[in-house]
Amino acid sequence: MSREVRITPSILNANFADLAGEIRRIAQVSDLVHLDVMDDLFVPNFTFDFEAASKIIRQSVLPVDAHLMVLDADSIAPQYAQIGCASVTLHVEATRDIAATLKAIRNAGARAGLAVKPGTQITDYEDFADLVDMFLIMTVEPGFGGQSFMENMVPKISQTKKIIGDRPIWLQVDGGISPETIEIAAAAGADTFVAGSAVFRAEDPAAMILKLRALAQNVAD
Ligand code: DX5
Ligand code: ZN
Repeated sequence: MSREVRITPSILNANFADLAGEIRRIAQVSDLVHLDVMDDLFVPNFTFDFEAASKIIRQSVLPVDAHLMVLDADSIAPQYAQIGCASVTLHVEATRDIAATLKAIRNAGARAGLAVKPGTQITDYEDFADLVDMFLIMTVEPGFGGQSFMENMVPKISQTKKIIGDRPIWLQVDGGISPETIEIAAAAGADTFVAGSAVFRAEDPAAMILKLRALAQNVAD
């Protein structure tokens, strides 16, 4: 049976002056749009505060997959679910009560995602599998787009796939996904792919998304 593949483009490297327009450009061929929220505390970069993010989420023609790279995810993550994100992902490294926060996200009607940085073992968090709708394996250090895919994260993707087993949990990878790397990640078990610079630095972002999807789907079939 073929595995479902999702492409979730990150607008981190898109034109911030017209994000609604950038999202419309990729709407026909994307499953969700990936919104990187950075607070300059958890990561050394800042993207949006809650007010600016809310505006993007309200205007987006695509469902929003929020990736929260912020301290104090316990209080912030449920707010992103309440304002209508389809999916909200918190980092284990930035959350005090992971179980309660995952439950709060689900209670607010969003899918709950759990992310780990490259230095964090996923096996330490496998007990949360029944509370999550998506695991996110970072394949770069979070903070910036345009970095190289860390190939030494591939065993962690396989481990996560094993933890997921038959559960309908999405397995997302984020960082350095391009036509050169997507098949490696897909072969290890990833089914949901963030791609930032590969998409928005391409001449034709929609065509690039179709290309990435075809490459991943080919491995998944
Ligand atoms: C990095 C972000 C990523 C980033 C991906 O901290 O979480 O979503 O935008 O960008 P690329 O695809 O350029 O690595
Ligand atoms: Zn991200």
